[in-house]
Amino acid sequence: MKVQTSRLHRLFYPQVPLVLAAQVGKRVSAMLVVSYAAVSDSPPLVAVFCIPKAFTYLLCVKARAFSLSVIDARRLGAIEELARVRGSEVQDKLLRVGLKHKLGRSVAVPVIAESLATIECSLHSRRMLGDHSLLVGEVESCYASRSFREFWDFTKYTPILYTGWRDGITTYSRSSEGD
Ligand SMILES: Cc1cc2nc3c(=O)[nH]c(=O)nc-3n(C[C@H](O)[C@H](O)[C@H](O)COP(=O)(O)O)c2cc1C
Repeated sequence: MKVQTSRLHRLFYPQVPLVLAAQVGKRVSAMLVVSYAAVSDSPPLVAVFCIPKAFTYLLCVKARAFSLSVIDARRLGAIEELARVRGSEVQDKLLRVGLKHKLGRSVAVPVIAESLATIECSLHSRRMLGDHSLLVGEVESCYASRSFREFWDFTKYTPILYTGWRDGITTYSRSSEGD
């Protein structure tokens, strides 16, 4: 079957969404991202591809900093809300969806209280590639909960395995096979 190029990203599913977040003063925004990568160890760089019209992206550029957070499947409700609420319409999108946060250790970025891992970045560079902007962050701090030592302990961390938006977030789970 021929796959339309506008659908080919679905071939990469399931993917674990991260929360990309930024703040300028009291204005806080966040969005889900699946187009991300660990780019370089030295210097430590990560990259995210963003729709340039996303409010969160604009706030990342303005703040010249952003955080990336790993959230457990137990917070799927809040994660789904992040995809529904518009950052441009609220003062603090994280609080609006029930995710408390504090300021980062190294840079002025939101750190979600319930995140299992957080990467704090300063903006290294950005460039347009097609209709998305490649946002490159220099990692200023990176830390995780006890669910992570050298690798994730999946008895403590249940990842969200995103399989697409069909009137809401859909996820993959082996136990639901054959339902
Ligand atoms: C699971 C999931 C993953 C997403 N991944 C990306 C992504 O990698 N890059 C992107 O630009 N948008 C992505 N989106 C879309 C943004 O999250 C969406 O445009 C968001 O509502 C922008 O919100 P804002 O305008 O409040 O910042 C994703 C959406 C979902 C539901």
